[in-house]
Amino acid sequence: MTGRLQGKSALITGSARGIGRAFAEAYVREGATVAIADIDLDRATRTAEEIGPAAYAVRLDVTDQASIDAAVKAVEDRAGGLDILVNNAALFDLAPIVEISRESFDRLLSINVAGTLFMLQAAAKSMIARGKGGKIINMASQAGRRGEALVAVYCATKAAVISLTQSAGLDLIKHGINVNAIAPGVVDGEHWDGVDALFAKYENRSRGEKKKLVGEAVPFGRMGRAEDLTGMAVFLATPEADYIVAQTYNVDGGNWMS
Ligand SMILES: NC(=O)c1ccc[n+]([C@@H]2O[C@H](COP(=O)([O-])OP(=O)(O)OC[C@H]3O[C@@H](n4cnc5c(N)ncnc54)[C@H](O)[C@@H]3O)[C@@H](O)[C@H]2O)c1
Repeated sequence: MTGRLQGKSALITGSARGIGRAFAEAYVREGATVAIADIDLDRATRTAEEIGPAAYAVRLDVTDQASIDAAVKAVEDRAGGLDILVNNAALFDLAPIVEISRESFDRLLSINVAGTLFMLQAAAKSMIARGKGGKIINMASQAGRRGEALVAVYCATKAAVISLTQSAGLDLIKHGINVNAIAPGVVDGEHWDGVDALFAKYENRSRGEKKKLVGEAVPFGRMGRAEDLTGMAVFLATPEADYIVAQTYNVDGGNWMS
């Protein structure tokens, strides 16, 4: 059976673990080759080995332009070009407004916003030069839809991702490049283990309590799993999504409506 992404070449940032890894597995199942591009090269290498020969590890730091350019070049050399970019790498932090540090602000902006923009730019340049169009999918969040008292900086970065998706989507569609985004809600995994620990500290909770609360609050009835998002990630990368431009889709069990 031919997969829906047969012969396509994808690069997924931050895909050594978590949601990015689940996307890589889904893309490979659909026939794509996938660069597991992550700052943690050891883990990216293990992940690629576990996924199989259609996946390969690439070291990438999305805060470093030379690293971005080298990762795109590595994909061009290995797969003949880049068809799909998923901008998935991101960092979370949490603090009351009066405790936010410049260091944390700069780090989150640098990875979540500048990393998304300049990765997207490098991919778009490569896609335009090749002349075959492409698909770019940015990972936003429900956190980008409204602020949260303790999560100001992360929320602001994800609002910026939604905005960049709109502007880049409008600019790049003339090259046959679709830019869209996915806004997950709360997705269980190592990322949320860290989020839960931060809430435990700032809201004086026991470990696991915040996870339980946010899971119960989802209209679907539980936290998301990375696999809940793969359908949208595959769909947005297929020709079925050609007429979809500059949109952000909520895949969050009903948490946010827009
Ligand atoms: N998990 C959730 O509940 C949730 C909810 C909404 C949105 N999201 C978004 O989905 C995406 C994936 O989330 P996740 O839960 O899988 O996160 P995660 O923390 O499990 O994975 C992030 C990956 O990014 C990599 N990374 C970090 N800094 C990097 C850098 N500078 N360059 C390259 N790679 C880097 C990490 O090594 C890691 O493998 C993120 O954009 C996140 O903001 C997650």
